[in-house]
Amino acid sequence: MTALSQHLDHLKSFRVEAIPPLFEEADRMARFAKRAGSLRLDLSKQAISSAALEALLALAEDADVEGWRARFFGGEAINTSEGRAVLHPALRGVGGTDAVQTEVREEGARMDAFARDLIASGDITGVLHIGIGGSDLGPRLIADALAAIHAPQVKLRFAENVDGDSINRAVADLDPAKTLVIVVSKSFGTQETLMNGTAARKWLNGRGRMVAVTANRERAIKFGIHSDDIFDFWDWVGGRYSLWSAVGLSLRIAFGPEVIGELLAGAADMDRHFRDAPMEENLPVLMALAGVWNRNVEGYGTLAVIPYATALRLLPSFLQQLEMESNGKGVTRDGEVAMPACPVVWGTEGTNGQHAYFQWLHQGTPGAPVDFIAVLQDYTGRAEHHRALLANCFAQSEALMVGKSADQVRAETPDLDAALVPQKSFPGNRPSSTLTLDTLSERSLGELIALYEHKVFVQGVIWGVNSFDQWGVELGKVLAGTILDEMQRGVTGAHDASTAALMGMT
Ligand code: F6P
Repeated sequence: MTALSQHLDHLKSFRVEAIPPLFEEADRMARFAKRAGSLRLDLSKQAISSAALEALLALAEDADVEGWRARFFGGEAINTSEGRAVLHPALRGVGGTDAVQTEVREEGARMDAFARDLIASGDITGVLHIGIGGSDLGPRLIADALAAIHAPQVKLRFAENVDGDSINRAVADLDPAKTLVIVVSKSFGTQETLMNGTAARKWLNGRGRMVAVTANRERAIKFGIHSDDIFDFWDWVGGRYSLWSAVGLSLRIAFGPEVIGELLAGAADMDRHFRDAPMEENLPVLMALAGVWNRNVEGYGTLAVIPYATALRLLPSFLQQLEMESNGKGVTRDGEVAMPACPVVWGTEGTNGQHAYFQWLHQGTPGAPVDFIAVLQDYTGRAEHHRALLANCFAQSEALMVGKSADQVRAETPDLDAALVPQKSFPGNRPSSTLTLDTLSERSLGELIALYEHKVFVQGVIWGVNSFDQWGVELGKVLAGTILDEMQRGVTGAHDASTAALMGMT
């Protein structure tokens, strides 16, 4: 039985009808708005009272978050189903043994030298990064975000999907004679990546250059990559936690080792904060507890992540893998049925979302908790736009919380048709967090991503699941292999009528 199942009834006893009255609590802002580095997390618009927060912190204690955190940083094999340590902070210089740190530094220096020499040579004008899932989403997010503040030194393109359209688009404006292709795959066994790698090799046709990034050298060599052209990472780096490793080689080339060094330094700052700060000051812990409250006490099944920053528009996609592949599990580490765990994570950048699904957030049922994310300082050179962007962000969280009662609607428009009153009313009391970055920089991006990584870790501990395996992706992969084989042979094996009919149409 998890600590959560034991605490749940007690936690539920702290539920409140309305959020605004919670602001009458003494010190609410001091308790619920906390800072780490250049990030500030404001949880005061959550439906969580100070007493409820105390109860959540007691839950964290009973779930032994501190013990798991120590085992994590200490390099214990906390990925129990695969018998592996989980050491992505070591890629940022935090935790891990001396031997691990030496390996990380050596591979980092090798990548930096490679990136510098390549740019100095003038031999390439483009980089094609091939990979999917954790071998794609992180580098793609960072490349998109950094492009708002740094001009890339080369054209950086990504091909991820097995859909031929993906690589067609990626190479459309690249010159094969001046392109470095980087095939990125932890396993070097991923169908999409190997197919795109093969297509890229044909496209290069002896020109340009191809290198690989992998934790499985043997397979990369078998694929035809020279061993000198392979950059390594290790089985203690989970795919969705790998952007800090050689998986980020394309970023080092496009933006330079110094910029990526700062990204790593920002993540390391967050690692140290998570490792050292007391629970009630600890941003990942507090964010995780608010998420557990919304999922298990309030019963919300989804979480909207809405960055008010075009530069962060890929964050929701990145977080879908980080959160849902990590904690989208129905059984605990011990194989027992788990409490409802990870919510569906979704969202797009603001203000765009306001003109799409915010209607549902405000008046739909049941609505969803929101993580609003904003960058305080303008980095676009368009201060007026930036002010408007922030005003929208702040207004939406306030509107979701305060709503508008039928009495208010009637007072504002006394002649309004009675049937329209409920339609113009807003229930309010819809919870949100607001996370602000002082500025958009490589350092704050590192802090931001590491914050979510550690939040996911804490939630995994509380839900009692192993956040570091992903057995749930296997069944579909195996079946896809069978179906592809049958389609190639023009036969239909033993399938249900629907699947057989679909196969018959190709
Ligand atoms: O199918 C899921 C997954 O295994 C992810 O966990 C991983 O990030 C992705 O595929 C890509 O895997 P690889 O880096 O081994 O190609």
